[in-house]
Amino acid sequence: KDITIIGVPMDLGQTRRGVDMGPSAIRYAGIVERLENIEYSVKDFGDIQIARPGTIEETIETNLKNLEEVATASEKLAETVSNVISENRFPLVLGGDHSIAIGSLAGIAQHYNNLGVIWYDAHGDLNTADTSPSGNIHGMPLAASLGIGHESLTGIGGYADKVKPENIVIIGARSLDEGEKELIKDRGIKVYTMHEIDRIGMTKVMEETIEYLSKKTDGVHLSLDLDGLDPSDAPGVGTPVLGGISYRESHLAMEMLAESQIITSAEFVEVNPILDERNKTATVAVALMGSLFGEKLL
Ligand code: ARG
Ligand code: MN
Ligand code: MN
Ligand code: MN
Repeated sequence: KDITIIGVPMDLGQTRRGVDMGPSAIRYAGIVERLENIEYSVKDFGDIQIARPGTIEETIETNLKNLEEVATASEKLAETVSNVISENRFPLVLGGDHSIAIGSLAGIAQHYNNLGVIWYDAHGDLNTADTSPSGNIHGMPLAASLGIGHESLTGIGGYADKVKPENIVIIGARSLDEGEKELIKDRGIKVYTMHEIDRIGMTKVMEETIEYLSKKTDGVHLSLDLDGLDPSDAPGVGTPVLGGISYRESHLAMEMLAESQIITSAEFVEVNPILDERNKTATVAVALMGSLFGEKLL
């Protein structure tokens, strides 16, 4: 399938500047050439326009940071992603902080009855205004996509409940807030924490994930937060957590997804070149995208 790249230079979902340069860093690391090398036709849509903080007058009383700017950008992204799917192309979204998943999923889920989601991340991103320790919206997109949280976020695209809890698999979790743990138990969300990855290995984790999702979904979105990887392999992220998934394991996970052919849309988020070492994290992201789209050594 042909691919359309959409850049989302969003940094308002958290407080560390620089993640807005993620799409540029990933382009600079050669994403278009990499995919063209494996015979894809690639179109670069360019970037969704993001307001600078404080330029939209805040009318909503809330502890969520930059709520209206994030909501406005999410609507634009949802519409763009939806158009790409209508053109029968594969949307590949480049972040930007993880708050952009709200818009991606709002645009994608319209096209599926039973969308599956793989959330590859150190975090659950299942907070709401009530449970968030930070007020940062990048810690909330999965909750918002479940229809839980502020209505300015849950209602993006004009509908709520983009994804059902039983259609979600979180992989790589090692930092969960109390409210997130409760939500996971309450809703029965499947989670492979680092403990399970250590214990049964990435091969088994991906076999089980693919089996679990392919049975009941009609499309699967991969939302890959680079902080799911260990900071030694992906140092350019705003909220690094020790003890993550290695580059090798991630490469294997992407190859297994490529083989399974279940992935119908994807986003790679939280690449922050300001915090990086010589664009290492964007380079890792591009390598993983290559594997996801079926790149082979021989
Ligand atoms: N759980 C923390 C919070 O809500 C960290 C979230 C980090 N999220 C991310 N997409 N990097 O603030
Ligand atoms: Mn994360
Ligand atoms: Mn995340
Ligand atoms: Mn390999």
